[in-house]
Amino acid sequence: MKNFTYAIPTVIHFGKGQIEKLGAEIAQRSRKVLVVYGGGSVKRNGIYDAALAQLKAHGVEWAELSGVEPNPRIATVREGVRLCREQGLDGVLALGGGSVIDCSKGVAAGALYDGDPWDFPAGKAVPEKALPLFTVLTMAATGSEMDSIAVISNPETNEKEAFAGSCCYPAVSILDPTYTYSLPAAQTAAGTADIMSHTFENYFSPIETNYLADSLAEAILRSCVKYGPKAMETPDDYEARANLMWNASWAINGFLDMGKPVAWSVHRMEHELSAFYDVTHGVGLAILTPNWMRYVLSDKTEARFARYGAAVWGLDPALPAREAAEAAIRKTREFFSSLGLPATLAELGIGPEHFEEMARKARNSGFDKTFVPLSVEDIVSIYRMSL
Ligand code: NZQ
Ligand code: ZN
Repeated sequence: MKNFTYAIPTVIHFGKGQIEKLGAEIAQRSRKVLVVYGGGSVKRNGIYDAALAQLKAHGVEWAELSGVEPNPRIATVREGVRLCREQGLDGVLALGGGSVIDCSKGVAAGALYDGDPWDFPAGKAVPEKALPLFTVLTMAATGSEMDSIAVISNPETNEKEAFAGSCCYPAVSILDPTYTYSLPAAQTAAGTADIMSHTFENYFSPIETNYLADSLAEAILRSCVKYGPKAMETPDDYEARANLMWNASWAINGFLDMGKPVAWSVHRMEHELSAFYDVTHGVGLAILTPNWMRYVLSDKTEARFARYGAAVWGLDPALPAREAAEAAIRKTREFFSSLGLPATLAELGIGPEHFEEMARKARNSGFDKTFVPLSVEDIVSIYRMSL
């Protein structure tokens, strides 16, 4: 294990009815907040009303930014920054999934930055200060509720880039599993694939000596396999929704990658897909992941895949490593298909036209420290396998 520092400042209130704590938490830190939400699901399922009741009860004023897009856009972040500055806002309250929370991180940091917030995803600046951010999570997927990362798109330039900064952790996140009951089955499936992908990205690393993190990763994967289908079949199954929600936070809150290099290969490839075609993040990951696994399988990596197969899919540990590895990858593909997720890019109407450019852009953000280093040609091959 390499040296590491672990610090997560986010206060989590987890469970049914925890929204009751929101108003007091905000009132300790902010007097007038920007309430940020997406296409309106929070109005239909009552979360917006519950959050606003908290603001009113604790004397917190607010302004609103609505219509945050899935794969949130920089134009919306800029609009939020403008509102914060014009109205002297001193906090941001995100009501939604990863897109709303990521947009809110851009707004919270952008409001205190003397420049264009696109500088953060563009890698020209790292956020150093941000308004306090409060989140009410409505979807188990990205882990944005407990991490310092935001991913923002610029459709004009076909770019989708991440930024992070320790000031971007939410101050407080409300995780009420009942708030995910209204999530459509397709989004539940995409969210489950995203949680699993975060776990894979951490698990398949060149350093395999953090036994605690790796065992937790396997438990998260087993939990997704158990509860993803349950949540789709029975949307108001509290146990299933609660486990998915907590899995999502732990898959990317930093614990799984302590002491090892993690390079997020499949995510970099998927972000290019979303940048060019605006695909749902978890859907892109579900298509690419099994193909990436097949591509990087070798004599050197087969033992890791075999361990994954035994721990997550209950494969016989006595199987020859290559056989077990191939079976584990097959099971991964079959599981995503059983959730109704597409298996090919063709199903999304995507052809090979931009593969070279996408691969070059993905490669720019670093593929040397990945589980298996990949060249531009390798990445193109994985896109082609996914057609
Ligand atoms: O817009 P609304 O009306 O809220 O509807 C959303 C949206 O259409 C809907 N939804 C969410 N909660 C719901 C609900 N509908 C009914 N009931 C509910 N309870 O679901 C749709 C998708 O929401 P979105 O926020 O886009 O999904 P997700 O949480 O998967 O976020 C995806 C974004 O996060 C980025 C992705 O790249 C993508 O841009 N990521 C962020 C990460 C991070 N911050 O750490 C890491 C991830 O790897 C990922 O890249
Ligand atoms: Zn992801």
